[in-house]
Amino acid sequence: MTTLGISGRSASEIAESVRGLIERADLRPGSSLPSVRALAEELGVNRNTVVAAYRQLTQAGVVVTLGRGGTRVADLSPVAQEGFAADSVLRDVGTGNPDARLIPDPARALAAMAGRPVLYGEPVVDPGLEAWASDWMREGLGPDVDMRLTVTSGAADAVERLLAQALTRDDLVALEDPCFLTSIHTVRIGGYRPVPVPVDDEGMTVAGLRAALEQGVRAVVHTPRAQNPTGASLSARRAAELRAVLREHPFVLVIEDDHFSMLSRRPFHTLIAPGHRRWALVRSVSKFLGPDMCLAVAASDPETAERLAMRLTPGTTWVSHLLQRLTLALVTDTATMASIQQAGDHYAQRNAAFAGMLRDHGVVATAGDGLNLWVALPVPARTVSEQLMRRGWLARPGDEFQIGHREPSQRLRLTVHDLDQADAEKLAADVAGAIRAAGGRLAEQEVA
Ligand SMILES: Cc1ncc(COP(=O)(O)O)c(C=O)c1O
Repeated sequence: MTTLGISGRSASEIAESVRGLIERADLRPGSSLPSVRALAEELGVNRNTVVAAYRQLTQAGVVVTLGRGGTRVADLSPVAQEGFAADSVLRDVGTGNPDARLIPDPARALAAMAGRPVLYGEPVVDPGLEAWASDWMREGLGPDVDMRLTVTSGAADAVERLLAQALTRDDLVALEDPCFLTSIHTVRIGGYRPVPVPVDDEGMTVAGLRAALEQGVRAVVHTPRAQNPTGASLSARRAAELRAVLREHPFVLVIEDDHFSMLSRRPFHTLIAPGHRRWALVRSVSKFLGPDMCLAVAASDPETAERLAMRLTPGTTWVSHLLQRLTLALVTDTATMASIQQAGDHYAQRNAAFAGMLRDHGVVATAGDGLNLWVALPVPARTVSEQLMRRGWLARPGDEFQIGHREPSQRLRLTVHDLDQADAEKLAADVAGAIRAAGGRLAEQEVA
């Protein structure tokens, strides 16, 4: 046995002993394991035996190898998550939530919902929803696209299953940088390696996607509009350029997460060219029917759909037909659709108005599309968010959305569409005050 308590003669025994130490918390997340040479000497085994043991542990996701940084026990401590912060007395303006008042009331549709009970072994997609969603997807992808539909428990569920049906541990996945927190989490938990692709005002950059493909990514997850957190939407020109870059990589799985779909004020442009072989367009209803509906529709190429369906254990696991029928009843109801359009206008107007209030205080801001505002700061965001806490606000610094370690972020993500006028004006003044208190200068010429 070694000083750390590792024992064993074969690779499996050594790996088993390390797992036992981790289970018993004798080895903590993040702690270093001995080098291959040192452990081989201590245990009196061949170095290749230790290499094989560490490989087994890496493949199981129990340890991570950091090149020269050695081998460490994997640290899966929670990363930042979307939604309200638990246990905070501060006013939370970082939630990323839609406004509960703008989520259609399902009571009438629920009361009118008819339908016989569904039993094991029946088709998992409700035929009515399938017909409606096929038309919806074809509007974006073209009438002739060869596709199949899958219904999942939301977009995050779809992305997780889509990656799992195509990838193995350590595979590379291109993610937008900055990125939606759940996608960062999904890639991390799946044991894949994220490759950051910078996002500018028109979406993923061409050079960024090209570099990621050259590194060998097996999947690309991107947001065609209302990118979270930046609010960027793909321009027609950028989409065409990115499709051209993808032409050489038809089997790289392209996942489009069109999460803001019906609420978006921007046109949908796809990255999926007609010849692309592995793709999925995911549209969740979370933003316009509410996160608790837990439902998304995924259109994909037939092979991907088949493998995705396998992961839903056909015939025994599915998204409740009650939810599917309720979704259909709501999206085919004229009054509900009108209220969804109004909600989309409301988010756009409130965010544009708040960006105007910030500019009046000398804070440079423009509203993109989506629920959030992505505000550029002259100083690190963490210092500004600390100052905002003193003024009673909880805001999200951009660092949480960055992939990998980089410079401190100079961005704040604010969810402000649900503030009334007085609170919005107070927050805008407080952001300016927080920047000043953190040592930042405001744009003098724009001060009212
Ligand atoms: C980019 C993006 N995708 C997906 C989601 C969530 O979708 P779902 O609730 O269907 O998992 C969100 C929610 O904030 C989002 O911002």
